[in-house]
Parts: sequence; C-alpha cells; structure tokens
Amino acid sequence: MKILVTGGLGFIGSHTVVELQQEGFEVVIIDNLSHSSLDVLDGIKAITDIKPQFQKLDLKIKKDVKTFFKKYNDLAGVIHFAAKKAVGESIKEPLMYYENNISTLVYVLQELSELNQQNFIFSSSCTVYGQADILPITENEAIKVAESPYGNTKQIGEEIIRDTCKVNKKLNSIALRYFNPIGAHPTAQIGELPIGVPQNLVPYITQTALGIREQLSVFGNDYKTLDGTCVRDYIHVVDVAKAHVVALKRLLDNKNDYDFEVFNLGTGKGSSVLDVIESFEKVSGKKLKYQIMDRREGDVTSIYAETTKANDVLGWKAELTLDDAMASAWKWEQKIRNK
Ligand code: WQD
Repeated sequence: MKILVTGGLGFIGSHTVVELQQEGFEVVIIDNLSHSSLDVLDGIKAITDIKPQFQKLDLKIKKDVKTFFKKYNDLAGVIHFAAKKAVGESIKEPLMYYENNISTLVYVLQELSELNQQNFIFSSSCTVYGQADILPITENEAIKVAESPYGNTKQIGEEIIRDTCKVNKKLNSIALRYFNPIGAHPTAQIGELPIGVPQNLVPYITQTALGIREQLSVFGNDYKTLDGTCVRDYIHVVDVAKAHVVALKRLLDNKNDYDFEVFNLGTGKGSSVLDVIESFEKVSGKKLKYQIMDRREGDVTSIYAETTKANDVLGWKAELTLDDAMASAWKWEQKIRNK
C-alpha cells in the first residue's frame, strides 16, 4: 500500500516514514526542504534499507498539488505533517503561518477528495488547548482561544477537516494532538534538524552542551508550578511516529468509530524545564550552563495529556521515557557535529 507523507523529511515525518516502511508500507514523501535536507532520505535508507520516493514540492502551489495527485492517484492514505510549528515565530509572523499551514491543508484535501481511498492523518497539536484549566487534559476539553497563531492554525485545521468529513462521506480522518515530541531515532541516523537558532528546548540544550550555544535561557521560573518553570508532556518522537502507523491502520481497516477522530499523543506525565535539564545532565554526564530569564510570550504554564482514549480506543501507549529521549537527542547532536 502506497502512503503519502507530506513534510516527510521533517522531524516527526522522517521518523514516521521509518516506522511505515518497517511495517511494509510503500512511502512517497513530499517536502519543500524549507526546514530539512535531502540527507534525511539517506538517513531513512540507512535504517530501513529502503529509499523512499521523494518529490520536492511546495504545497502552497495549488497547480503542483493537483499535478502530483493526478500522478499518484493510487494512494491508500495521506499523513499530513507539512506545516510551520514554532510558537514564538508564529506570533511574529502570523500571516506566514496562516498562509502556509491553512492553504496547504485545503489544497491537499481538495485533491484527496478525487481519490478512491481517502484516509487522512492530520498532524495537530496540544497547543489547540491553549492554557488548560484542568490537567491532565482530555480530548473533549473545551477548545480555548489559541495562545499563538500556530496553535490557531491547528484549531482551524481540525475544523476544516471536521466540516469536510460532513460532506465528503468517503473521507476518514484522525487528528493526532502531539504534546512535545523530542529525541531522535536510537540509530542516530535521523533526528531533529533545527535550522538556525533552535526555537525548541531540547535542541537548544544539546547545542549548548556542545558549546554551539553560550548558555540555555530558561524562560521564566515564576510560574505556578512546582519549581516555577513551565511544564510540558515530553514524548519520544519514535513513540509519536509509531502512533501514526496505528492510526493509519485504524482507518485502512475501517476500525474508526467516526469519520473524524481526535487523539492526544502524550505520555501523561508533566516535566518542568528544570526536570528536562536534570534528565539531560544525568544521561550525558555533563553539567548544563543555563540562566533564568524573562518569560517567553505565548508560553502556557503547564500542559500534559490524559492518555486514556489513545491507550484504550486507538490502542497505542508511549513506551519510552524522558531519559530515553534525552539520551537519544544527545547521541544525535554529537553525531551530526561529528563529535
Ligand atoms: C518548551 C518549554 C519554553 C526554549 C512545542 C512545539 C509546538 C507543539 C508544542 C507540536 C517552554 C521552554 C524553550 C528555550 C526555554 N508541538 N524553553 N528555553 O513551546 O511547548 O511548543 O510543543 O505541535 O510545535 O514548538 O516547546 O520546546 O519551545 O518550549 O526555557 O530556549 O521550554 O518556555 O516552557 P513548546 P518549546
């Protein structure tokens, strides 16, 4: 069965391609290479011994999307990762985020509606919840006003899919709300490739440990949490990738209860920024240089997943720990810097 993975050379996309290939799926990747490189194809092949089909394509160009789907009209499913995802950047560049994350989704859904099989997995995010009042947070928690344009594009994306499923009865879709994916494949053949100054915590930590960054800025320690720093649900990217295969099979096997379903992808455990630093120091044996700085705009205080629905309905559970993720992130960082 042939599966399209948009953004398949990205962080979560590349790890999902590996899991799909190891489950016997034939994978076609679309990526515009804005946040990745062709080397990732070699990394995937080094793990699975299968080089995925690849087409460089910008999904914002509607005619190119149409041409692609005319050529690949035998797809069994689509996993849609292609999107920009930095909370802070989206606050500075809202229109770039709305154009990139919304138009691409619309064009892919328009072309998908022409195919026989219409199984669609959407890369959503816990940022759709905004600042949750009740934790851990369940999927039926009321969606609040997003704290960032990025989070809003994910909320709008889910609404677009929900509305489309109402009129297009052939479309079956699952939205996976990621919490904080971190780490790298244990082989260190693929991992997170932040371009420029990392926006996210874990690549900033590993780059600081290698001396690429002077020190880590901890954005605020006056939050209402145990140690004053923000709490997130950090989940190993390999666990996130495996969940996509489980979700895709659910649709392919017609096991979905509704034409549009939503699942949280988290560990169910909250970790503070200082917990993550402590985990890194434990697994690396290195002392991390950091300084407490002002809060970052758009950050929510605390969020972590209620995972019962994903565990019991989807039939998936995160297996790897924060230490596993930090150890894999450290191994990957050293590999790409040839240390
Ligand atoms: C985590 C914590 C920062 C950098 C991410 C993705 C987003 C979505 C949700 C998937 C926060 C603190 C960070 C630094 C710091 N995932 N921090 N110093 O903002 O939770 O969002 O997960 O869709 O796409 O971006 O992740 O790693 O940026 O921040 O103190 O240099 O680390 O304040 O508390 P975030 P993050």
